[in-house]
Amino acid sequence: MCGICCVVSTSSVCSALETRAYENLRKRGPCYSQEIRKTMTTNKDLSYHCLFSAHVLHMRGPMTPQPVEDDSGNVFLWNGEVFGGLPVGQEENDTHVLAQHLSHSQLPDEVLSVLSRVRGPWAFIYYQAAQNCLWFGRDFFGRRSLLWQCSPEQRLMVLSSVATAVPCTGDPQWQEVPAVGVYRMNLRALAELGSLTLEVYPWIHTGDVPPPASHKWEGLSSWASVTMNDSGLFLCAPVCPLNREVTEICPLPLDAFSPQPSAEDLDTLLQCGEKRKTVNQLIEVLSEAVRRRVQCLPGETAAPPPSDEEVDIAILFSGGIDSVILAALADRHVPVGKTIDLLNVAFKLQEPKKQKETSKKPKGNKLKPVDTDTGPTESDAFGVPDRITGRASLKELQALNPDRRWNFVEINVTREELQEMRLKSISHLVYPLETVLDDSIGCAVWFAARGVGTAAEGTEQKAYASAAKVVLTGIGADEQLAGYSRHRVRYNTAGLDGLVQELVMELGRISSRNLGRDDRIIGDHGKEARFPFLDEDVVSFLNGLPVWEKADLSLPRGLGEKLLLRLAARELGLGPSTTFPKRAMQFGSRIAKLENGRERASDKCNRLHTA
Ligand SMILES: *[C@@H]1O[C@H](CO)[C@@H](O)[C@H](O)[C@H]1NC(C)=O
Ligand SMILES: *[C@@H]1O[C@H](CO)[C@@H](O)[C@H](O)[C@H]1NC(C)=O
Ligand SMILES: *[C@@H]1O[C@H](CO)[C@@H](O)[C@H](O)[C@H]1NC(C)=O
Repeated sequence: MCGICCVVSTSSVCSALETRAYENLRKRGPCYSQEIRKTMTTNKDLSYHCLFSAHVLHMRGPMTPQPVEDDSGNVFLWNGEVFGGLPVGQEENDTHVLAQHLSHSQLPDEVLSVLSRVRGPWAFIYYQAAQNCLWFGRDFFGRRSLLWQCSPEQRLMVLSSVATAVPCTGDPQWQEVPAVGVYRMNLRALAELGSLTLEVYPWIHTGDVPPPASHKWEGLSSWASVTMNDSGLFLCAPVCPLNREVTEICPLPLDAFSPQPSAEDLDTLLQCGEKRKTVNQLIEVLSEAVRRRVQCLPGETAAPPPSDEEVDIAILFSGGIDSVILAALADRHVPVGKTIDLLNVAFKLQEPKKQKETSKKPKGNKLKPVDTDTGPTESDAFGVPDRITGRASLKELQALNPDRRWNFVEINVTREELQEMRLKSISHLVYPLETVLDDSIGCAVWFAARGVGTAAEGTEQKAYASAAKVVLTGIGADEQLAGYSRHRVRYNTAGLDGLVQELVMELGRISSRNLGRDDRIIGDHGKEARFPFLDEDVVSFLNGLPVWEKADLSLPRGLGEKLLLRLAARELGLGPSTTFPKRAMQFGSRIAKLENGRERASDKCNRLHTA
């Protein structure tokens, strides 16, 4: 993960980076920082200025400095990973490979065909000197953050992986660059006319008709005049479209299952040979996605193997089905001598009430029977649902492979610490998102990914800080396999048709709802978020299946949602964890409890406003 930034303006005075934004970028790429400036004067004697600032997080192979500049003065900034599509040789670096391909691409369709080939997450900025244009954009799902800020008065545009919250003083606000395609900005038009002229090349599924040239692109600055290229150029979507087939199949006899779902119910379903085949196909494709994300890629095989002591891989681990299956698959591909960190976050439950109030027991106590006279003790104040399921699932993983060492990292967060770090860092990373839900998830993911807590050493709990640079997260499973309660609501009111529409909508908005934010949050620790459920092959596989193969919402909670994934976990040998019901992170970690419980998730969150 890297921090990339570009300031474009018509006055050289404007082109400096605000200190705070610079610091935030550096935290994403602590290994190497460099700036390049470009000034170009057009034949009308008008100029534009570009400042490129890149901050590199070194992951594997030899360190590759950025920005990369070629002999023609083209400048390339890359915050991404090539996991496939474009060959990257043993001794090569993906940043270099891409820069070289782009150097050989003059025309837009050549640039687009390079980008269309990449499999993996990315955001990039590319300055094409001879053409006087600036390319930028995010991958199909928007797995990497990219923000922009436009100021027509100053004739200024800034692109950056991360920003700082702008107080409401009238300064131009930042926005996430919509992950609808890649953009090409005409710098000559900026210098000569002071206009922000963008051409957008949208992502299109093969066989689909591109949107009409008059299409309104949402989320773009009103200053920008955005056109589609009249020759109809676009990027090829890296996944197949969603299967919308809804023929009702014969519902399963409900009495075949007990009301309390169990692993045995899954065994019953797995007896069907067809089902089992699909389940194994999912395991195969997901396993490969995890492998690509946990094993050293070509560049590193030549280097001596890193020492066993080092932990390279961490997993955001609630103990729920998504995280458990990632852990079980990572276990297949990480050398057995290597420890894997399981990051489990808990926010402190309410303080114990005094004697008089024992009748109004805080709800949190329901989790475990505790002595009503004393309320929760200091240690079970962190016994939140995700801690309990996390420990239970850990046992299953240990049983699955007794030779593997797992570090179950208990990350306990108090209210004071939460408030301090929110003000200092997290609010700036969540920005420009701003809801109560963004705040809760942003804070929970920030503490989890930081990985500072305790872990067992022998029979003792010792202070521990995870140093793993790769953090796997289960995001994308709920969106594709109908894990959210709103999927159930939609199914109950509008049947399979409604459910399919909900799934289309979820995947379409995952970049603006989650991915940009989570990338900014996790990147802040100098770590890289990786999303196996959003691997192109996994998405294509799941998109290809009819919806009823993925979920059966006529079955009870803990079974019906994400059914296919539960079956896969069972097939891998997991036990009770396969039927834990879905619990959203803000509730599982109890962060939502810590704050005003009466807020709605979609409300604007006042706590995020820093000034
Ligand atoms: C390319 O170099 C960057 C920066 O040194 C590094 O983070 C990345 O992992 C390298 N990629 C490959 C494929 O070696
Ligand atoms: C569309 O792209 C072609 C080159 O691929 C270019 O010649 C043409 O000017 C572009 N159209 C617009 C409206 O910019
Ligand atoms: C963290 O919380 C757990 C409860 O899940 C508790 O057992 C442990 O003692 C706590 N650790 C610290 C350092 O507070």
